[in-house]
Amino acid sequence: MTLAYTLVFTGLSLISLVHSENLNKMVLIHGEPRTFTNYSMSSLNWNSCMSYCYQMLTCIAVHYYDQNPECQIFEIGKINDLKQLDAYSGKIMAVKVLMLSDPTQCSSTSDGNSMRGEISTESSYQNYNITVDQDIWTISASPLYTCPDSFKLFHRVLGMWCMGVILKQNPNGINQIDSTQLCADKYNAILSGFDSTPEKRWVVDLANTVIYPNPPYKFNAYWVNGIRKDICRYSNQTQNPECQDKNAFDITDPTMSTLNAYVWAPYQPDGMQNNLGTSNCLLFRVGPQDGAGVDDRPYVDFFQKL
Ligand SMILES: *[C@@H]1O[C@H](CO)[C@@H](O)[C@H](O)[C@H]1NC(C)=O
Ligand SMILES: *[C@@H]1O[C@H](CO)[C@@H](O)[C@H](O)[C@H]1NC(C)=O
Ligand SMILES: *[C@@H]1O[C@H](CO)[C@@H](O)[C@H](O)[C@H]1NC(C)=O
Repeated sequence: MTLAYTLVFTGLSLISLVHSENLNKMVLIHGEPRTFTNYSMSSLNWNSCMSYCYQMLTCIAVHYYDQNPECQIFEIGKINDLKQLDAYSGKIMAVKVLMLSDPTQCSSTSDGNSMRGEISTESSYQNYNITVDQDIWTISASPLYTCPDSFKLFHRVLGMWCMGVILKQNPNGINQIDSTQLCADKYNAILSGFDSTPEKRWVVDLANTVIYPNPPYKFNAYWVNGIRKDICRYSNQTQNPECQDKNAFDITDPTMSTLNAYVWAPYQPDGMQNNLGTSNCLLFRVGPQDGAGVDDRPYVDFFQKL
């Protein structure tokens, strides 16, 4: 027997940054925080203070005053605006922004800097923009998008999407109805589709590390979003343009912008038998190296081992 995996999402809405590279810079000004809710303190000197913020994922600004030398660290959401001062103030701030593509650009004023930033991990995302009006810098942050543990956040064209793989170690595998129910019960979620090839790649790589060292079943597949439309279940309906190829399936994943990543496995779809076979659901087969395409299968298919 085989097992099937369930893809899950929880809805969200937004872009991506390669997390391993630090694409940020610190913009240095004379200034002080004006409106803020909280900061943390450290006895680091000014240079270490700046580099601490540069390294710290959620830090967006630091402040230092030479009359009272301490490193004040502001995280995203904790500071709303700051005031630019003159050099005699002895107060300095460094604000983290995304580097512009031109690396020779080292302006320390708002002109010539991106004046925006992002905090991006595998499973979360938040961005902020800084607007400057006379001597006030105002920081506005987006909501924080986060996914459940072990899920991955995909930045889809139509919005943010959390995708997870639930491994069902049941000797009988899991059918589509139970998969759907599990998503709903555990995550208040639905079966996910694939909006792009990298999303499929992520699932395949997960299968390779989790299943393929010791595959317990002959076939492995993930249930994915898609159910054959009611109007496409009889051969006398298949001439309808709405029933052609992938159009025959209803997709309820709300951030799917395209079905291009749904690539049929060889000889698929093959399950349309006047509603008799009820092959009305979609799954994505995976093999030891790669994805093996999409297949239409019945709701209650458990993949009996041959
Ligand atoms: C301020 O930050 C400190 C240390 O980071 C924390 O213990 C405290 O709860 C925070 N206070 C508020 C009001 O957020
Ligand atoms: C910041 O600006 C970018 C680009 O204009 C925009 O997409 C994003 O929604 C803005 N974020 C906030 C928090 O206003
Ligand atoms: C199509 O076939 C089904 C099952 O044989 C039948 O119930 C239905 O009336 C047919 N529809 C049309 C438009 O012929």
